Amino acid sequence: MAENPHHGHGHGHGGQMTPEQQKQMIEQEIKLSRNLGQIKYKIAVMSGKGGVGKSTVAANLAETFQKLGFTTGILDADIHGPNIPKMLGVEDKELFVNEDHFMIPVEAPSGLKVMSMAFMIESIDTPIIWRGPQKSGSIKQLIADVAWGPLDVLIIDNPPGTGDEPLTVLQTIPNIDAVIMVTTPNVVSQEDVLKCVKMVNMLNVENIGLIENMAYYICPHCGEKLNIFGKGDGEAFSEEMEIEYLGDLPLTENVSDSPNKDGVVSTLDPDGEVSNKFSDFVSKIKEKFFKEE
Ligand SMILES: Nc1ncnc2c1ncn2[C@@H]1O[C@H](COP(=O)(O)OP(=O)(O)OP(=O)(O)O)[C@@H](O)[C@H]1O
Ligand SMILES: [Mg+2]
Ligand SMILES: [Zn+2]
Repeated sequence: MAENPHHGHGHGHGGQMTPEQQKQMIEQEIKLSRNLGQIKYKIAVMSGKGGVGKSTVAANLAETFQKLGFTTGILDADIHGPNIPKMLGVEDKELFVNEDHFMIPVEAPSGLKVMSMAFMIESIDTPIIWRGPQKSGSIKQLIADVAWGPLDVLIIDNPPGTGDEPLTVLQTIPNIDAVIMVTTPNVVSQEDVLKCVKMVNMLNVENIGLIENMAYYICPHCGEKLNIFGKGDGEAFSEEMEIEYLGDLPLTENVSDSPNKDGVVSTLDPDGEVSNKFSDFVSKIKEKFFKEE
């Protein structure tokens, strides 16, 4: 069949690429799949709502995997409000590029490899407005153009919401092994998780785990366990949704304080309650979601 020489030309649509752009895109896809091929397990952290503790969970999970002997990386996919470097105390570190023009991920003191848009923008206070294709391009860049090296685990911290952005992230990174959903114990959050589960199912990711954050508070005076946001029923809810309940986390100053220190609770207070919880989450993730270990 003869090709229509006019097809796709001259209409001024934004989506058209020059041969040079096409070449660059193909090169990026090749680098992306080469890099992804070196990563054993890819785990995305999500929620249906902002501010429930995704980044906190992602950073602590990553440090816990690293502590337990997995070569681990964390990808901060929140390109608007990247805060993983700050949480891990590495926000002042500089990004270097190797002779093959790959960016070398920043390393936390534990050896955890960190990649974030925060390292690529001049100032954290500069808001970036991305359009759809640029957005997926920049997330791809955070994987494709980075010398991750072989990794056992890559934790991906998603931007908030069930809209365009987390979807873009999940579509950009094929074959995600597990999604960890973070919620807080109240009805609204559960509805958000429901939305989230539907979205993840659409993307053919089968392994979903749930962590209930800020589930209780231990009274510093009498040690009583208080369910300040109401009694969470994450376990029953998970069963109903046929997802894996990984456990709960307390609301604690320990957690909310730690971004002001040089690291997360899992590294600063390795024998504390929260650290033990994260070790437990990692065991469950290994047991339920990893193919073999
Ligand atoms: N268990 C906890 N106890 C006390 N503070 C917490 C806990 N979990 C999270 N926080 C605090 O709540 C705030 C929001 O947490 P975080 O940034 O992890 O949420 P997020 O879901 O990633 O937010 P966003 O949707 O904006 O990315 C942070 O200040 C964090 O320190
Ligand atoms: Mg976050
Ligand atoms: Zn009390």
